[in-house]
Amino acid sequence: MHLPDLNVAKDRTSKENVYLDLNENYQKVFKDKKYFLRTYGCQMNVHDSEAIRSYLEALGFTNTEKVEEANVVVLNTCAIRENARDKVVGFLGKCHYLKKNRDDFKIVLAGCMSEQPDFIESILAKHKYIDIVIGTHNIHELPKLLLENFSKQTIEVYSNSDEIIEGMHYERDSKYTAWVNIMYGCDKFCTYCIVPYTRGRERSRKLESIIKEVEELKDKGYLEVTLLGQNVNAYGQDIGESFSHLLECVAKTGIKRVRFVTSHPWNFTDGMLEVISKYDNIMPYIHLPLQSGSDKILKRMNRRYTKEEYLTLFRKMKKMIPNVAITTDIIVGFPGETKEDFEDTLDVVKTCEFDGAYTFIFSPRVGTPAALMEDKTPLKEKEERLQELNTLVNYYSNKSNQKLLGKTVEVLVLGDSEKDESKVYGYTDTMKLVNVSGPKDIIGKIVSVKITDAKSFSLDGEYVKEKIEA
Ligand code: 5AD
Ligand code: SF4
Repeated sequence: MHLPDLNVAKDRTSKENVYLDLNENYQKVFKDKKYFLRTYGCQMNVHDSEAIRSYLEALGFTNTEKVEEANVVVLNTCAIRENARDKVVGFLGKCHYLKKNRDDFKIVLAGCMSEQPDFIESILAKHKYIDIVIGTHNIHELPKLLLENFSKQTIEVYSNSDEIIEGMHYERDSKYTAWVNIMYGCDKFCTYCIVPYTRGRERSRKLESIIKEVEELKDKGYLEVTLLGQNVNAYGQDIGESFSHLLECVAKTGIKRVRFVTSHPWNFTDGMLEVISKYDNIMPYIHLPLQSGSDKILKRMNRRYTKEEYLTLFRKMKKMIPNVAITTDIIVGFPGETKEDFEDTLDVVKTCEFDGAYTFIFSPRVGTPAALMEDKTPLKEKEERLQELNTLVNYYSNKSNQKLLGKTVEVLVLGDSEKDESKVYGYTDTMKLVNVSGPKDIIGKIVSVKITDAKSFSLDGEYVKEKIEA
C-alpha cells in the first residue's frame, strides 16, 4: 500500500502537514470504522485531541461515545501527576478486556505518557495489547501509523523530535472559541515538573502563521481565541520575537476576545501589561501560577522568583488592568515544606484574594529532581494542608463572585448549560462561568447578563440584551 509522504522538513518550522494528502484511498480502509477518543489533562491535550479527531475523521472514521463500539480507541494521556496516570492505566484494563477476541479493536496511546521512556518500556512489557504509541511531537504521523497497523504491520513509535508542523487541521470542539498553539514545550525545568521531558524544549511558531490562523478563525465566525503555551509568555525568545508583540498583533486582528494561558511570573513584562491595558479585546484575566509562597520552597522548585517578587507583579497587574481577575496554581507538600512554609503560602493567598486556584498535592515524577528530594511530611498531613488551603481559596473565589451580584456583565455564550438544560452557559471577560436564563439563540453571541446568584465556582444570571457594537 502506498503511504502518504509526510513532507516533514528537517528544519524546525516545517512545511504543510499530511492532512491534505489524505484521499479516498485511505478512507476506503477505514470506511464504517468507528473511533473513541478520550482526553486527559490540560488545555494543550484538549487542543491536541482536536487535531487527532481531525485526522481520524479525514481518514473516514466516525465518532462513537461508546468504547465497546469502537475499532480504534485513542487515549490522549497526561503524566503531570500520578492520579492522571492511574486513570489511564485503569481504562487500559477495560480496553484490554474489550480487545480479547477482536482483531479490529486497536488501541492507540497518545499524549504525555507516551513521552516517558521508562513508562513506555514498562507499559509495553506489561500491556502488550497496545497497538500504537504516539507522542506529543508526532501527532501528524497518526494516519500513517493507523494505515500500517490496520494493514497488520504493528508499529510502535514515539518521538521527541523538535519539529513544528505548520498547517495542522483541528476538528474544534467549539464554533465560537478556539485554542491556538503559539509555542510548544518548556525550558523552565521546575524541579517537580515532567513537562520539559514530555513536551520538549521551548519552540515558538512563526508570528505570521499564528496571525494567519487567528484571521482564518475570525473569518469563520470565531469570537474568541486562547493563545496556548506551556509557558505562553516565553513566546518568541527562540526566534527573536516577543509575546507582547504577538499579543498586540493578535489584538489588532479585531477578533472579539483574546486570552492566553499559562503565564510564568518570571517572563511577565511591563510591555505585556501595557498591551493588555491598551486593547479592549484582550480579556482582563491572567492565570499566574504561584506554586508556593515560601522563598525556600520556591528556590527548591526552581521557580526563579521570591514571594515578594510575585506580590509586586501581582499588585502591578491589579493597578494597570482595571477589573483584572487573577487565578493561580498551588502545590502543597513539596519535599521539605514545613508548617511555616505552608503558612507563607496561606499568607500570599490571603494577600492576593485570588479569583480561583487549582491546588495539588506534590506528586513525585520519575526523572525529575524533586522526585529524589527527601520528603518527610506524611501524606495525611499534606491532605490536611490541602483541605485548609482549599477552604481559604474557595472563600476568596466566592468573595470575588459575590462582588458581581446585581451587576450586568458581558458573557460569551457557548452552549447549553450542563446543570440545567433550560439554561445556557458562557464566560465573562474575567473567565467566570455563568449559567444564564435566556433564549437559546444567544448561543454563539456576546450578550449582557445580569448576575442573580454567586457561588464559589459559578454564577447565575439573566439575559439582558445583545452586545451593542460601538
Ligand atoms: N505534583 C503536583 N502538582 C504538579 N503540577 C505540575 N507538576 C506537579 C507535580 N509533580 C501542577 C503545577 C502546575 C499545574 C499544571 O500542575 O501547579 O502549574
Ligand atoms: Fe512545568 Fe515549570 Fe514549565 Fe510550568 S513552567 S510547564 S510548571 S516546568
